[in-house]
Amino acid sequence: MPKVNVKLKVNGDPYEVAVNPSGTLVEVLREDLHLTGTKIGCQTGDCGACTVLVNGKSVCSCLTLAVEAQEKEIITIEGVGLSYDKLHPIQEAFINEGAIQCGYCTPGMVLSAKHLLDKNPNPSELQIRQALSGNLCRCTGYARIVKAIEVAGEKMKNPVKEK
Ligand code: FES
Ligand code: FES
Repeated sequence: MPKVNVKLKVNGDPYEVAVNPSGTLVEVLREDLHLTGTKIGCQTGDCGACTVLVNGKSVCSCLTLAVEAQEKEIITIEGVGLSYDKLHPIQEAFINEGAIQCGYCTPGMVLSAKHLLDKNPNPSELQIRQALSGNLCRCTGYARIVKAIEVAGEKMKNPVKEK
């Protein structure tokens, strides 16, 4: 089957990739762009390990065709940090609150948290748990992840100015 050219912006950088019409976004991210921070778990939309932001909205990149990303802005875990050497408050909070064990779910969790906190930096515990309902973690029991997102929301509301 002939390939299709897809233009997309990933973490601020423009790309043009020739993709199979049935190829998924996560395949393009990992195999063509070598952005392997986005993980593959189930490939059926159940685990959330492959979560990325597409035009600011969290999606399962295993269920998104690459051609659907045409002309879209994608943020992966590699693009969440505030700069090359400065973590995002969500990433810092995950580390500081012990919300990471094996880490396999973490990129997807961080992207789902970013989707939530960008809209609502002051979510209730229920809203956080609802926002994470598509992200499975086999290790942590979720409590520390929820706490990390609360802490990150506080920090995003009241950023500490760099001296
Ligand atoms: S790999 Fe996409 S939801 Fe599990
Ligand atoms: S930290 Fe291991 S799956 Fe979440």
